[in-house]
Amino acid sequence: MKLIFLGPPGAGKGTLAVKAVDILKVQQISTGSIFRAAVAAESPLGLKVKAIMDAGALVDDETTIALVKERLAMDDIQKGFILDGFPRTIAQAEALSGFSKIDKVINFEIPDSGVISRLGGRQVCRKCGYNFHAIYNKPSKSGVCDHCGGDVYIRDDDRPEAIQKRLVVYREQTEPLINYYRSKGLLVDIDATPMVDEIVMNFKKALGI
Ligand code: AP5
Repeated sequence: MKLIFLGPPGAGKGTLAVKAVDILKVQQISTGSIFRAAVAAESPLGLKVKAIMDAGALVDDETTIALVKERLAMDDIQKGFILDGFPRTIAQAEALSGFSKIDKVINFEIPDSGVISRLGGRQVCRKCGYNFHAIYNKPSKSGVCDHCGGDVYIRDDDRPEAIQKRLVVYREQTEPLINYYRSKGLLVDIDATPMVDEIVMNFKKALGI
C-alpha cells in the first residue's frame, strides 16, 4: 500500500507511521527525518537545510522532490510506503504524481491548541528517532531512550517561535493539499486528537484492515 500522511506539524504523523509500518509491513519515508540525519552528519545537504529547518520554513521543492524521487526508486519500497511529511506543497504533489501512484492520503485533523501542546512537550531520541512526550509518553529514565538507549533531546524547531512559523507555513503551503487530494478521491480524514491506540484503531478501520 502506498500512503501519504498529511497534517499540521505535531499532529502525530510520525507516531502513527511507526505503528503503521508494523501493521502494513511497508517503509516509512520521513523527509523531516532524512533532513535531520543530514544535519547531524553535517553533510552538504545538512549544511544547506539546517537554518531553514530551525526557522520552521520549508526546504525548497527542487531539493525535496529530488530526494524523494531517489528514495522511491530503491528496491525496499516495492511493497509500499508511507510518505510522512511529503508532499507539503502543490508543486511537490504534482511532481510526485509523475513518479508514483498513491493509494490513499490520510489527513490528520487537529486544532492548533493540540499542535502546540504536543510539540511543546516533544522529546526525540537522537539515535533511533522515537518520539516521546513530556506528559503523554515519557521515557522511563529522563533523557534516555527506552528503545535503544540513545540521548533524548528537544528539536530546535520545537521552540515556540518556530512552532508558530511552522503553523503559518502549514496553512499557506500545505493545507491546500487537502482539497487537491480530496478532489482526486484519495483523501481519508482521521481525528488526530485521541490517544494513539484509538487512532491506530480508526486508521485500520479507514483502510478496511
Ligand atoms: P517534519 O519532521 O516532517 O516535521 P512536521 O511535519 O512539522 O511534523 P512533526 O515531526 O513535527 O510532527 P508529527 O506530525 O510527525 O508528530 P509526532 O508524531 O512527532 O519536518 C521538519 C522540517 O523539515 C520542516 O519544518 C521543513 O523544514 C523540513 N521538511 C520536511 N519535509 C519537507 C518537505 N516535504 N518539503 C519541504 N521541507 C520539508 O508527534 C508530536 C508529539 O506528540 C510527540 O511528542 C508525540 O509523542 C506526541 N503524540 C503524537 N501522537 C499523540 C497522541 N495521539 N496523543 C498524545 N500525544 C501524541
